[in-house]
Amino acid sequence: MATANTPRKILVTSALPYANGSIHLGHLVEYIQTDIWVRFQKMQGHTVHYVCADDTHGTPIMLRAEKEGITPEALIDGVHKEHTADFSEFLVEFDNYYSTNAPENKELSQSIYRKLKANGKIATKIIEQFYDPVKNMFLPDRFIKGECPKCHAKDQYGDSCEVCGATYNPTELINAYSAVSGAAPIRKETEHYFFKLSECEQFLKDWTRSGTLQGEAANKMGEWFENGLNDWDISRDAPYFGFEIPDAPGKYFYVWLDAPIGYMASFKNLCQAKGLDFDEYWSKDSKTELYHFIGKDILYFHALFWPATLEFSGHRKPTQIFAHGFLTVNGEKMSKSRGTFITARSYLEHIKNPEYLRYYYAAKINSTMEDIDLSLDDFVARVNSDLVGKYINIASRTAGFINKRFDGKLNPTANNIVVAEIKASAHAIAESYEAREYGKALREIMRLADIANGFVADKAPWVIAKQEGQDEALQQVCSDALEMFRLLTLYLKPVLPKLAYEIERFLNIEPLIWQAVGASLLPAHSINAYEHLITRVDPKLIEAMTEANKENLIATPQVSEPTVSTAAPVAAALPEAEYISIDDFTKVDLRIAKIVNAEHVEGAEKLLKLSLDIGEDKPRQVFAGIKSAYDPATLVGRLTVMVANLAPRKMKFGMSEGMVLAASDENGGPFILSPDVGAKLGMRVK
Ligand code: MSP
Ligand code: ZN
Repeated sequence: MATANTPRKILVTSALPYANGSIHLGHLVEYIQTDIWVRFQKMQGHTVHYVCADDTHGTPIMLRAEKEGITPEALIDGVHKEHTADFSEFLVEFDNYYSTNAPENKELSQSIYRKLKANGKIATKIIEQFYDPVKNMFLPDRFIKGECPKCHAKDQYGDSCEVCGATYNPTELINAYSAVSGAAPIRKETEHYFFKLSECEQFLKDWTRSGTLQGEAANKMGEWFENGLNDWDISRDAPYFGFEIPDAPGKYFYVWLDAPIGYMASFKNLCQAKGLDFDEYWSKDSKTELYHFIGKDILYFHALFWPATLEFSGHRKPTQIFAHGFLTVNGEKMSKSRGTFITARSYLEHIKNPEYLRYYYAAKINSTMEDIDLSLDDFVARVNSDLVGKYINIASRTAGFINKRFDGKLNPTANNIVVAEIKASAHAIAESYEAREYGKALREIMRLADIANGFVADKAPWVIAKQEGQDEALQQVCSDALEMFRLLTLYLKPVLPKLAYEIERFLNIEPLIWQAVGASLLPAHSINAYEHLITRVDPKLIEAMTEANKENLIATPQVSEPTVSTAAPVAAALPEAEYISIDDFTKVDLRIAKIVNAEHVEGAEKLLKLSLDIGEDKPRQVFAGIKSAYDPATLVGRLTVMVANLAPRKMKFGMSEGMVLAASDENGGPFILSPDVGAKLGMRVK
């Protein structure tokens, strides 16, 4: 693929993150991958626009806002600010970061729908849907829970079982209930709007074969074609947070209809700000390039629905779709219990420097859909050895001499062969970036850094510095090393833009563009004082970060709209951070306990020692903070409620093997609980 000369006009997107969760390290794989590619293309002198937005519509966002007691607009505004700050701190530089809940998007979605309709691609059908009779709304599959029909695990989602991995229809769930109200869902008929995807099969087959997809993705498409394409349900009934379908009162576009149109809307908004020509990029005969970076989980939407939507509404199609794999941490799925579900914010608070992560991800990224592993030990080792040990080392071992002995003035050799060797790799490195083979690019750059370090070690400026009459030799060696450093900085700039900026200041040069490979630091050019540029990652910071994420994880789970059943499953959880599920509740083993003994504890101001019988071999010993309200003698023989499965805790006065429940506030208490007449010791409270 061309990497130079003819300037290209390129529009690039990353997938639009849902507006109801925090950006985490998994998301960042994609945004960092895209940003590196965009920065590389900009350094090549191409015209590149990089747009993105928050994906704001759908049931999960509507319900979450309701739970928080705010409007969906207020919710998505707050998240927009948070996402914008996260991306900017990770140096992900969008030309526009917009929202799907915007006038441009509404207008585009409606006009695209009208064109699809005019082209005969829209049909309506009466379908049966699950309906929550208490909440009065239709329920997406993900909001129906019940017992898995295969393994009988309780409280599984309507589309798949997290215990045995089975996939099924919500109708198959045993004792299904609405995750919104808990009510048993009923079946109810409703009219839905469909995009006739089944009629687009030939077009999609041709499009797939035209080199727009990676090999693996094209294979996946092949499987989908074999199964036959179903028409795509694009409507949802009120109440729904989204755009109303024209001439269809009470019907809304399904979020996945207007989300990709959000790419267009974000660009349209940019056009207005920058005076760009929208049609030049989106008309059917556009000569510009359009690339979508996405995760493999949303390939179905981008490789089937999206090109079909574009084609049959009279627009251009994507030039290519670049799908990447999923992030694992230490070889496993990100996990809250292991502390590896790490938000962007948490990384920044602990590790601080975003370029370490950018570098590490880049070292792991290639052009395939393979998963990418963040091994935390390897992260520390790699950043420290490559960035600090190899790259920065070249400047830190030579700049001081130039500053102190030559007043900052350089005097490079005319034709240093090591410099020439480093320049010679420019083309290969550019090709690797272009092909999204960042790992390959960085391996080559580090090979060159090794060569540069070899040069410095060989010439040993610290030895020359002590020799009489060797000033010129010293100045030349250090100048040459700094020229090598300049070239390596240029090569690394798409990955490390902030560090490159600081080095440009230090070297006192113009912002590096790819063409500057051909330039050089000239004799008598003055550099500025060298200041320490980067420090080693302290492994303790990593430990602190994973610990912190184990303890107080406030990150909201990512919520995906329920997908069509043929799509790859989307990792999702309900937006119920503030609620607990019935499952959570049943984890607490509450029992009716008989207080068989109660006594004061010597030296304890607040505690009584209770012996509680719940029908086990021997009574449990429990320390309860109820001394202020009860005379132990009055307690013996009473029934009360205890938590029986609280982990035993060693207290100053002995082991406490449970907890009694008691009510209190600033006006009184504690008051322990009593069951109604008839309850027997050992009974489960639920
Ligand atoms: N809102 C949709 C995309 C609409 S695009 C028109 C969505 N949002 S998301 O927040 O769930 O994900 C945004 C992007 O981040 C997706 O491309 C997704 O694949 C990617 N990732 C989310 N979690 C990820 C990992 N753990 N690892 C790598 N990428 C992941 O999907
Ligand atoms: Zn199961």
